[in-house]
Amino acid sequence: MQYDDVASELQDVLLTEKQLQARLTEMAAQIDADYAGKDLLLVGVLRGAIMVMADLSRKLRTRVEMDWMAVSSYGSGTKSSGVVRILKDLDTDLTGRNVLIVEDIIDSGLTLSWLAANLRSRGAASVEIATMLRKPEAAKVEVDVKYVGFDIPKAFVVGYGLDYAERYRNLPFIGTLAPHVYS
Ligand code: IMP
Ligand code: MG
Repeated sequence: MQYDDVASELQDVLLTEKQLQARLTEMAAQIDADYAGKDLLLVGVLRGAIMVMADLSRKLRTRVEMDWMAVSSYGSGTKSSGVVRILKDLDTDLTGRNVLIVEDIIDSGLTLSWLAANLRSRGAASVEIATMLRKPEAAKVEVDVKYVGFDIPKAFVVGYGLDYAERYRNLPFIGTLAPHVYS
């Protein structure tokens, strides 16, 4: 899907496909350097992280395994509460593994701080976080994010895995929605 297919539903393009891919190339080089000579398990958080996982993993030269988790955070409306339920757990034993959680976006950071603690408690050798996007709210919780693609303003964004009502995930760029779509 491209811009023209949903032009009337979008307000702005925040990050182009080219910008996303260029930044992922830089992040992959950093991750390759940091994990040189180590095994690495990428843990993608469904469903938003599928695009980041697909592109980041292919840019890595490090040998990796991939596994997936699905979680839901209870809360009122669109705000996450920090109370997290595992919908789909990992199939991989984390004992002694170097884990890199791959995320699409960190908003409140509550989901991710819970998830990182949960994975650490399973005996992983290390647990780090890589995210394509981070919103300003994330600064309020203590979650140490090692790899950040872009810090973005506090706006609701779609595309590149991110949805509004399950739509727009298959846009190759990040955009903001026109108000008439959600009002
Ligand atoms: P939080 O960091 O616990 O608030 O939760 C982050 C999750 O909320 C992400 O993994 C997304 O699934 C979703 N999310 C947060 N902000 C946006 C957005 O701007 N667009 C689409 N989904 C979002
Ligand atoms: Mg997510």
